[in-house]
Amino acid sequence: LDEGYQKTYKSFDELLPTLPRVKGWWFDEHVQYQGFWLPCHCLRGSMLIHDHFNPRPSDIIVATSPKCGTTWLRALVFSIVNRNSYDFTNHPLRKANPQDLVIFLDAHIHGDGSTSFIDGFPSPRLLSTHLPYSLFPQRMTDDSSACRFVYICRDPKDVFVSKWHFANKLRSKELPPLTLEEAFDMFCQGASHYGPFWDHVLGYWKASLESPKKVLFLKYEDVKKQPWDCVRKVAEFIGVPFSQEEEEEGIVEEIVKLCSFENLRNQDVNKSESRSWVRPVNNSAFFRKGEVGDWVNHLTPQMVEKLDQITQVKFQGRLAD
Ligand code: A3P
Repeated sequence: LDEGYQKTYKSFDELLPTLPRVKGWWFDEHVQYQGFWLPCHCLRGSMLIHDHFNPRPSDIIVATSPKCGTTWLRALVFSIVNRNSYDFTNHPLRKANPQDLVIFLDAHIHGDGSTSFIDGFPSPRLLSTHLPYSLFPQRMTDDSSACRFVYICRDPKDVFVSKWHFANKLRSKELPPLTLEEAFDMFCQGASHYGPFWDHVLGYWKASLESPKKVLFLKYEDVKKQPWDCVRKVAEFIGVPFSQEEEEEGIVEEIVKLCSFENLRNQDVNKSESRSWVRPVNNSAFFRKGEVGDWVNHLTPQMVEKLDQITQVKFQGRLAD
């Protein structure tokens, strides 16, 4: 690889030992970098993106904090963009997990050690990331036509509960289970994947206000309530609005049905044990309950109060509507 890459690897190797660390929720330690706790391999991915990734105006980047609905949003974006290429009864989402249809940018670039695989991808590229907005280079965030981000956020109480269940599915059997209390303290302190959760959300939220053509900000709860409106909104944002004819044919409804929790969870591929190097966990782990408000079954009133208070202080009603 050329000198530019060698320089990035060297910076990463030099930087890594100097960063604050906490133990991860499953196998990886997290390091604190520019205000966010990142798994070590994602820091390398982030640095490689920063120095070498070439965005294209047609790139669509699905951005999320983990457990906010990444799998769902990937499925929706994939089926919106490719709606004329496949029959809904024999669709790629019936054979592959959404995570395999929209490439996980940070992990792929880290794994390959370069951007060459992604550079060779045909347009429009559907990419996905957990990185905070502030870690992307200016050539991606400043230039309003460089690429587009679709972000989804979720009630932190549901995010926390979802993450805790997920962590215990992923943890090695040699480790004791992660208790709800221990996980709760880590989450509140911001020490969770790509956390603090609230700062991650605010970064994209502010960008969506400053550059509404660059960043679309969605909420899991809204997509649950009005999935059809959200599908239309996403299509419009990425420049492929539904035509009158498509509306009459019920394409929006087909997409919503195809990507629904029940439908995706019941596909054989998503019941299976299949996993990949970028995703070392069974597909089924990404489909648990898929509901709004499951936190009532897990959190004590004190936990609810504490999380709501942090949210209130951090958001100050800014995301209320
Ligand atoms: P729960 O654990 O609350 O059920 P991510 O994809 O970001 O890892 O988020 C996983 C969460 O989204 C899980 O939440 C999962 O059940 C839910 N989910 C997955 N697919 C979904 C879908 N098609 N519709 C709604 N929620 C979905």
